[in-house]
Amino acid sequence: MIEQLEMIEQEGLSELDAIDDHETLETWRVANLGRSSPLMGIFDQLGQLPKEERPSIGRRANQVKQNLEAHYADKVEYLRQADLRRSLETEQLDVTLPGRKKTTGRLHPITQTMRQIYQIFAEMGFQVYQSRDVETDEYNFQLLNFPPHHPARDMQDSFYVSCDHEVDNPILLRTHTSPGQIHAMREYAQENPEDPPPIRIILPGMVYRHEQVTTRAESQFTQVEGLAVGKSITFSDLKGTLSDFNKRMFGMHVRSRFRASHFPFTEPSAEVDIECFVCGGKGCSVCKRTGWLEILGCGMVHPIVLQNGGYDPNKFTGFAFGMGPERITMLRNRVEDIRYFWANDIRFLEQF
Ligand code: PHE
Repeated sequence: MIEQLEMIEQEGLSELDAIDDHETLETWRVANLGRSSPLMGIFDQLGQLPKEERPSIGRRANQVKQNLEAHYADKVEYLRQADLRRSLETEQLDVTLPGRKKTTGRLHPITQTMRQIYQIFAEMGFQVYQSRDVETDEYNFQLLNFPPHHPARDMQDSFYVSCDHEVDNPILLRTHTSPGQIHAMREYAQENPEDPPPIRIILPGMVYRHEQVTTRAESQFTQVEGLAVGKSITFSDLKGTLSDFNKRMFGMHVRSRFRASHFPFTEPSAEVDIECFVCGGKGCSVCKRTGWLEILGCGMVHPIVLQNGGYDPNKFTGFAFGMGPERITMLRNRVEDIRYFWANDIRFLEQF
């Protein structure tokens, strides 16, 4: 029986030694220390042994049991440590490493400029009117008094969309925001065709031109158009509104200059310059030594355009203007290349 105990101990310990998972360990516990294990069988048999053998065998059996139990407890602890080590290796969380910096988004520089423009005109009572990006030749040119083949069209080389639309009225991407003038006037006039309501709106949006792309010209850029129509609107209103806009946008001391120009849809027409805010009008590289920066085009709405919009030119007058937020943003921030704006390079955009 002593030999049997030796074997139980030896085999038990060597099996235990090889175990490295909880499940096998539990099977081992049941087989070696459980109710019906050989070791427990020996305890059961003790009573039937001759009196003189009982103490020594009993003592040995107890030693074997204690030894197995102690090694079993060591194994439980060993497996617990191994679990911990494994989870530290696979789910590493090193609190000493620097955290990842959170990046905050921001508005695109052109959106920022646009919103400033909206704000200023909102204070003067202008509402924002959204017009479509895809236009017909009729709205983009003809209703704005550009007849087919008119040379003024050459200023705005267009992206025509190939389709089965009428030959003399092809579809194109708008080359300016001015077609929105006609859409807006027709919509307002519908309210009361006999006596249409006055209009005071700005029309922002992307425009598209088939340009040779350079540092100063892009094939797409934004514009903010303005339109005021009413019964006694004069050129002084145009001058006052735009001079005031320039002050609010570029600084209270900035002077404005109106230069005669030509657009088919305004008469008379002008180009507006502001005194160079970099050199204060003395002449520098930004204003090319002229002291002035060109900011926008404008004029009194042409009678034919009013008529096309449903407003009787004998009763109504109006003014319109158009400016380029990219150009304004370039001048204010000394951006040297217009292509940066829509190239989506984060290194440029995050500077604003
Ligand atoms: N649509 C003109 C352009 O793109 C700008 C303009 C708008 C001029 C309104 C006068 C009045 O060049």
